Order: sequence, then structure tokens, then C-alpha cells
Amino acid sequence: MAISTDSGYVLVTGGTGFIGSHTVLVLITQGFRVVVVDNLSNSCEEPLRRIEKLAGLSEPVPFHKVDLGDRDALRDVFRRYPIASVVHFAALKAVGESVQKPLAYYRNNVAGTLNLMDVMTEFAVRNIVFSSSATVYEAVYEGHPLRETNPLGCTSPYGRTKLYMENIIKDAVDAEAGWNAIMLRYFNPTGAHESGTMGEDPQQIPNNLMPYVSQVAIGKLESVHVFGTDYNTRDGTGVRDYIHVMDLAEAHVIALRRLAENNGYEIFNLGSGTGQTVLEMIHAMSEACGRVIPYTLDPRRPGDIDTILCDPQKATEVLGFTVRRDLKQMCADLWRWQQSNPNGYSS
Ligand code: NAD
Ligand code: WQD
Repeated sequence: MAISTDSGYVLVTGGTGFIGSHTVLVLITQGFRVVVVDNLSNSCEEPLRRIEKLAGLSEPVPFHKVDLGDRDALRDVFRRYPIASVVHFAALKAVGESVQKPLAYYRNNVAGTLNLMDVMTEFAVRNIVFSSSATVYEAVYEGHPLRETNPLGCTSPYGRTKLYMENIIKDAVDAEAGWNAIMLRYFNPTGAHESGTMGEDPQQIPNNLMPYVSQVAIGKLESVHVFGTDYNTRDGTGVRDYIHVMDLAEAHVIALRRLAENNGYEIFNLGSGTGQTVLEMIHAMSEACGRVIPYTLDPRRPGDIDTILCDPQKATEVLGFTVRRDLKQMCADLWRWQQSNPNGYSS
């Protein structure tokens, strides 16, 4: 079925989470009809209220508290709405936790995706955009940014769930005509909506660099731990490719429109193509918030590598996607969100 703003609903799984909620906002502002499912295991409903305000909606965003493990509840949602396509964010995503609880990660992420694909098949919905990750690439840096054709290989159960889910979707596309699927491999998402009313709301002490830095900036945490100062990079700290969450959200809508062209199975990296070190990120955030962010120099974090950079050429050439927001804006927006919502959505 062609994807357009009037062709049916877009089901967004994990749509109350960080990237999902920003994508729901962009979808709605671009005229798509959206229905959100989420089990609220790592989020709350408040982002939907913020979306309604920002988009000037007079009605609530359709939302169903559904766990992807519950096939019947999922079926009910497909019965109630004429769904044309799915943007699938719902997953557990903490790398360290996945090492402690691998089975929970396989059950939630992989079995959840199988259920979703089954129900999509039952209801003849065969368009899916999937949240994948740069973590699926083999963790070595050979001096070149990563292309979609780079060798794959994961070092954590979380990463393997992403790779297995990609493969499950690929096999379904290969087995039956009519499926269209786009895998989006994100690099390091950060930032927040420019209004400062939506952003990332970690439920625990953040694992990722930028939410940690912003919680130090607001005084909730004492000091940033810089993991490793002896990497082969310009200042010895790790280099990553950070991408603004609103750029990422816009890329999903571009991908969704592309599904209508019936290209089967495609993979795109989403990053900027430029890298920043940990110290550069801390300094950029210090500038954005106008205060010195304290940090300590600590040993390497196990499993980390020097540099992970995106080659964004395919997304630019095929999707026409390039990032529009720079590091300064990422930090300014992140700080605006953190400052006006010191305790996230429960502020
Ligand atoms: P998030 O935790 O904020 O959002 C995920 C949402 O999915 C949450 O609201 C959670 O409650 C929901 N969820 C989890 N399991 C579910 C289930 N079984 N049924 C229904 N809902 C469920 O995470 P995010 O940062 O917005 O990430 C979104 C997606 O992007 C994830 O698939 C993640 O693996 C992927 N990704 C994230 C990053 C990142 O750094 N944030 C990088 C690459 C890929
Ligand atoms: C970035 C840099 C750290 C925290 C992870 C996942 C990946 C993907 C994105 C989902 C590294 C350093 C970090 C801190 C630090 N997620 N750092 N102090 O490791 O590139 O990727 O998130 O798919 O799968 O692995 O991101 O933000 O954790 O780290 O010095 O407190 O910051 O060593 O160099 P990473 P990150």
C-alpha cells in the first residue's frame, strides 16, 4: 500500500520513548495519522501531552499501552485502526543490562518483533521502518567511517538482538512479495526538541555520555567520568558521531515515504559523518549552559573502541537526507530541555 498522509495510520511502537516521541511529533506535523503503542517500561505518557501542545491538536494522540509480547492486544490495535505502515522503535536498549539479562533482551526485542511481524502479516501490513544501530558493525576502527556494507559483528546481547531483528525482517521480505522494509542504523542520538519541552528522560543513572553530561550540568550528578584518555584520537578520548534527535526523527519520515516506492529491503546509516571526542562534547555542553562541567579522567570502559564514525553517503544520495542541526544546536537544545525539566517528564 502506498504511504502517504492520507493512506492510513502509521503505527509507532515505542512511541513514548526518546526517539519515538520526537518522530511522532514530526509525523503529526507533516500530516500523518499516528497510533502509538508502548508498554511504558522505559517511558511515560507525558510526551504525548507535550506533542499535542506543540502540534496544536484538539484531541489526544491515539495511544494503547501494549506490550509487544501480547499478541492479542496488538491484534486489537490493528483491528481498530486502518494501519498502513509501522515504525518500530520498541526495544530494551541498555548494553550493560543486556549482558546481565540476555534472555530478557532476546524475549523483549526479538520475540516482540516476531509478534509484531506476525500480526502485520495477518493484517496484510507489509511496510516497516526499523530502529537499528551502529552497534551491529564489527567493533574495529580501520580509519574509515562505517558504510552499510562494512562487516557486521556484535559484542553484546543487545547488539545481537538488533542484528537478529534485522535478519528476521530481511528473511520475511525475501520470503513474500509485497514487503518493504528500511533498517535505519543510528549512530549516537542526542539533543532534544528545540522548544525544550521534549527530550530524553532516563529512568536511571544514564549510561550514555550526553544525558550524563547534562545531569552533571544541572547538578543532579557530581562529575562526568571520562572513560579512557589513551585512545588513538586527537585528545585521547573516544570519538563518536552524534546526531540531533530531530534530524533522526525527520529521517524516519523520509524513510516512511520511501517505503511507497517498493524497494524491498534497504539499510541506511544515520549520522553526520563527523566525530567529536568526549572532551569536545563536555566543552560544547559547558558553553551551551554557561558553566564549567566538572569531569574526572577515568580508565577505559570495557568494550569501547577509539572511534565510531558514520559514512552518511548512502542516506544522502538515496534518501536525500543530511543532518541540519550542528553540535552547538544539539547542546543548546539538550540544555534547554534539561534546565526546564530537571526531573524529566515528572518535573
Ligand atoms: P527508549 O527506551 O526511550 O524508547 C523505547 C520505547 O520502547 C520505550 O518507551 C519503552 O517503554 C518501549 N518498549 C520497550 N519494550 C517494549 C515492548 N516489549 N512493548 C512495547 N513497548 C516497549 O529508547 P530510544 O533511545 O528512544 O530508542 C528507540 C529505539 O532506537 C530502540 O529500538 C533502540 O534500540 C534504538 N537505538 C537507540 C539508540 C540510542 O542511543 N538512543 C541508538 C541506536 C538505536
Ligand atoms: C560515547 C562515548 C564512551 C559515558 C552506545 C551503545 C550503542 C548505541 C548508542 C543503541 C564513548 C564515552 C560515555 C560516560 C564517557 N545505542 N563515555 N563517560 O558507547 O558510542 O554507544 O549508545 O543502539 O549501541 O553502545 O555511546 O554515549 O555510551 O559513549 O566517557 O559516562 O562517551 O566511552 O567514548 P556508545 P555512549
